[in-house]
Amino acid sequence: MTVTLVPPPAPHPARDARPLDVLGVPGQVNLDYAATAPCARAAADVVAELLPWYASVHRGAGALSRRCTLAYERARQTVGDFFGARPGDHVVFTRNTTDALNLLARALPAGTTVVTFGGEHHANLLPWPRASVRLPVPREPAEAVRALAAALAELRRPGAGPGGDRLPPVLVAVTGASNVTGERWPVAELARVARRHGARIVLDAAQLAPHAPVDVAALDVDYLAVSGHKLYAPFGAGVLVGRGDWLDAAPPYLAGGGATSHVGAATHDVRWATGPARHEAGTPNLLGAVALAAVCAALAAADRAALHDAEQALLARLRRGMAALPRVVELRTFGPEAPRVGIVSFVVAGRDSADVAAELAGAHDIGVRDGLFCAHPLARRLLDEAAARSGRRDLPPTALRASIGLGSTTEHVDRLLAALAALA
Ligand SMILES: Cc1ncc(COP(=O)(O)O)c(C=O)c1O
Repeated sequence: MTVTLVPPPAPHPARDARPLDVLGVPGQVNLDYAATAPCARAAADVVAELLPWYASVHRGAGALSRRCTLAYERARQTVGDFFGARPGDHVVFTRNTTDALNLLARALPAGTTVVTFGGEHHANLLPWPRASVRLPVPREPAEAVRALAAALAELRRPGAGPGGDRLPPVLVAVTGASNVTGERWPVAELARVARRHGARIVLDAAQLAPHAPVDVAALDVDYLAVSGHKLYAPFGAGVLVGRGDWLDAAPPYLAGGGATSHVGAATHDVRWATGPARHEAGTPNLLGAVALAAVCAALAAADRAALHDAEQALLARLRRGMAALPRVVELRTFGPEAPRVGIVSFVVAGRDSADVAAELAGAHDIGVRDGLFCAHPLARRLLDEAAARSGRRDLPPTALRASIGLGSTTEHVDRLLAALAALA
């Protein structure tokens, strides 16, 4: 076996020229960004540049290791800045949004009541304690705000909580945009309500962050969770950004090397580190963190308003085209004009959704998602509502989802519409 020592490559010629181009395979139409978005050039380039230097993080004195440690900590800074982290916030790298929300669930002070809505992805329903309050899915964004205000007023009623007149902690957990419908939730208003009632709020930004700027300080949310692989940064990193106090007081999410400041001879003689290290035991995912930071930097430098407008134009084309197909029925929670990101869920009346997805892939090289999208309570309810709204009795029990983003084109949208027209 030979070992080739290679110097770090010169920056990729395309570097910075089109950092938000995405990689893909010619001919294949990827309309499944909401599950996993394609890799941005910025992420691919930064990983290719770092690979020759790839070595341990936080663990070595060698030049390679020092460079990797620096790259990892710079990535933390870049990601924190991108999401508006405040002094006192921690930026903890995780595997994905699910991992970030589970970490927060494990860090809740004893007796915390978590309030969610039934429209959440399972990642924002299942990690929370059993005694969590699950509010019904609202019919419009303003109803969500009213329902939260009423629920928090009740929880804060003197003597109402398990602690009697003491105010136990409350955490509100909401999504920024639904992974089923793409509809945006009124995060800033919900945060204001939470604040008024002395509750904290965590934003599941898995679907919002790829489509719109998200800033924890501007929104006044306490925590934010995202997945790199939905934000054009594969390699398996996510992040939890937010208030350091609960995180520093909690037992480490993962126990092991890197999370301690002192380990004595006795079994339980351990002092845990504070800061992000407390929850990041083990060798961290350097490439994932660096890829995520590269995309954050590229998005920060981009004209987000222009990207948003282009995506909205495509989304409108897609929804208009679907509305013109008599057997295609869209799923939605709010009114048809409610703001949404580039996600549309739908059914083809009289056709099994898994069969449709397979046909789109096999006959048309189009990738969409089918099923209940890890949001079973919401998806089932919206399927029932779609049946009632359309007056059809032949809607299937699961749905299809098309989702777009950077690199999506009118040709992609039109190919899906033509394929649906052919099979519907
Ligand atoms: C709104 C939302 N939250 C959380 C998640 C979980 O993300 P991950 O699978 O990357 O942990 C998803 C994934 O689809 C999602 O759409």
